[in-house]
Amino acid sequence: MSKKNNLDYERAVEIAPGIFWVGFYDKDSGLHCNPYLIVDNDEAVIIDGGSRPDFPTVVMKILQTGISVSSIKTLICQHSDPDVCGSIPDFEFIIEKDGLEILSREENNMFIRHYSVSSKMKSISGQNNTYTFSSGRTLKFIHTPYSHSNGSFVTFDSLSGVLFTSDLFGSYGQKWQLYLELDDHCRVCSCKHKCPSGVEICPMKDITRFHQKIMTSENALRYALDAIAGIPFNIIAPQHGSIISGIGNIATVFIHLYKQKNIGIDQFVKQGKKNTRTGMDLLLEREGENGNDPSA
Ligand SMILES: [Fe+2]
Ligand SMILES: [Fe+2]
Repeated sequence: MSKKNNLDYERAVEIAPGIFWVGFYDKDSGLHCNPYLIVDNDEAVIIDGGSRPDFPTVVMKILQTGISVSSIKTLICQHSDPDVCGSIPDFEFIIEKDGLEILSREENNMFIRHYSVSSKMKSISGQNNTYTFSSGRTLKFIHTPYSHSNGSFVTFDSLSGVLFTSDLFGSYGQKWQLYLELDDHCRVCSCKHKCPSGVEICPMKDITRFHQKIMTSENALRYALDAIAGIPFNIIAPQHGSIISGIGNIATVFIHLYKQKNIGIDQFVKQGKKNTRTGMDLLLEREGENGNDPSA
């Protein structure tokens, strides 16, 4: 473990000036969440606030940063999953403020309202895909459709260079640390054989496997990677797995994800190609067997 990962995960961790990881490291779960807090003067924003069971830990860490919960103005939800939005009613309860806003895309808001939300819900497209703090600092939102939901987006803070990516660049595995650590050989490693550096659990393998399961298709993932590759970020802060920093590590992860095959529906569609009869063929056959009687 490097010095960078010699951290107390019981406390909030400042990943950039005024930006805190306020997540819950659950050793028993391979999939825990990374909510983030951005503090800008007396105004705070939460990104992907986390699930309902995690809420007590998340709020304790928010308070450890020294802010008051009433300074939280906005909850940004980068898609509508329960591990992102489940704690919205709890935030509403402790913040007790009329002005609290939930900010997402319309496609997500349609579902987020079912968490029994009482705050005002706003769409990022209604504010030119940006959020501006009262200081003038701006967050920019970039749509990454179907990576993994139709309303998924990422958030770029140009002041810090942090890109918050929700499930993109996430990971699932039994071994976790806040910052991803890769070796030089990881760039070209196929991750299929024993790690030449003797690493027991390959973090790159965990990342690619997560994307195979969570993302919808190769097309969707590549579209998202293309959409964000040109953004001048230097830290990727995902909602699961580890933070990726340093251009070498970032490029290595991008390369592996660009090469990844059999993502989401692709693995099923390719298997299905062996069967030359389509569902439509089968249906037409059934119709033929029953003649044209619509009640048959
Ligand atoms: Fe998700
Ligand atoms: Fe997630």
